[in-house]
Amino acid sequence: MDTLTLIATTTFGLEAVAARELQALGYEDVRVEDGKVRFTGTVRDIARANLWLRSADRVVVELACFETTDFDDLFERVKALPWEEWIAVDAKFPVTGKSVHSKLHHTPTCQKTVKKGIVERLRKFHNRHWFEETGPEYKVNIHMYQDTASITLDTSGPGLHKRGYRDMQGIAPIKETLAAGMLLLSFWKPGRPFIDPFCGTGTIPIEAAMIGTNTAPGLNRYFIAEDWPQLPRELWKDVREEAKDLQNRKISVPILGCDADKRAVKQAKRHVFQAGVSDIVQILHRPFEDIELEKDYGVIVTNPPYAERIGTNDEVDELYREMGRTLGHLKTWSIYVITTNQDFEKLYGQEATRRRKLYNGRLQCTYYQFVGERPPGEILDEEPAPAEESSTDVSS
Ligand SMILES: C[S@@+](CC[C@H](N)C(=O)[O-])C[C@H]1O[C@@H](n2cnc3c(N)ncnc32)[C@H](O)[C@@H]1O
Repeated sequence: MDTLTLIATTTFGLEAVAARELQALGYEDVRVEDGKVRFTGTVRDIARANLWLRSADRVVVELACFETTDFDDLFERVKALPWEEWIAVDAKFPVTGKSVHSKLHHTPTCQKTVKKGIVERLRKFHNRHWFEETGPEYKVNIHMYQDTASITLDTSGPGLHKRGYRDMQGIAPIKETLAAGMLLLSFWKPGRPFIDPFCGTGTIPIEAAMIGTNTAPGLNRYFIAEDWPQLPRELWKDVREEAKDLQNRKISVPILGCDADKRAVKQAKRHVFQAGVSDIVQILHRPFEDIELEKDYGVIVTNPPYAERIGTNDEVDELYREMGRTLGHLKTWSIYVITTNQDFEKLYGQEATRRRKLYNGRLQCTYYQFVGERPPGEILDEEPAPAEESSTDVSS
């Protein structure tokens, strides 16, 4: 069990962002695929990756990956895996599954076969017929894709977007992982003014504050692998201590979130408090039209209303035109906007420097990036290339 194949799963379009996060955490053999990033590590890296990854959905251990087109073969291969190294005699081990473009297309049978294989292996090992399954939980998954089975164990439990600070849903909140991914694509740095003029429940400003202070997003939450004897409490304590030591609370320029809706402002303030970033993030009840942008070299990362969720088409069109009138001429500001609207550039009145396909839940969106002048001396970082097929970088 020394070296493990680990996978950080992501929404389509964020694979390369998660890969870059892993590289920054010191992992070298990082391989990007659609919806996932493979890397290798030890059990300690399970804890580190869960604690630190901002744009990934979860971290899983891949126990096996093999081609199979036959249920008997699947059973034998699963039975041959050393399940006893993970699953103790009292552990729960539910099996979920998915099958895409594969001969073994019936997902419930795939799940049942995997379960049978594990039980058979454990029966022999523990010399017993029945397992109570009352202990720690090991969520096994079989993912069949083009006749290749990937057998994994989930280590995160609740998705990594659940940082612990957001308990109010608001009108149309964005996932914390997507907000972080957008920020990481923007290359915002803590010395530059930051505003989200449509902050809703505060997700983007809070994620910016966590990035700016180098706060591990998972510092204050629980992970399912914390219940596993393979990852002792000391290990988690150690990784959390290390994360606290790396935190840097000094940010020279405040992070601002504004919203026209009173209820959203109240929720955002609550979340800012719960995230422990009240000294860094300011939330104002202010319509976009009244925001004054006096400083230079600022960054806006925002998730404005799209007609799918808030407002009518005409209202949203007019808001996007107003955004162009207010922001379009700010040459030193970099503006990043996610929306489902394919006509955003036309309404905004400017062609984006870069566009990227991202998903907000099931909604396919474009992340329009209007990159302004950089502060003197700031080095231009390179945008991570999107994973093949999962997203298209349509840089002009
Ligand atoms: C898609 S939501 C933003 C959700 C946010 N990213 C979150 O995670 O909660 C859009 C927000 O824009 C706000 N809004 C709509 N029109 C506005 C305007 N003219 N000025 C400022 N805020 C506005 C809405 O109240 C709503 O909270």
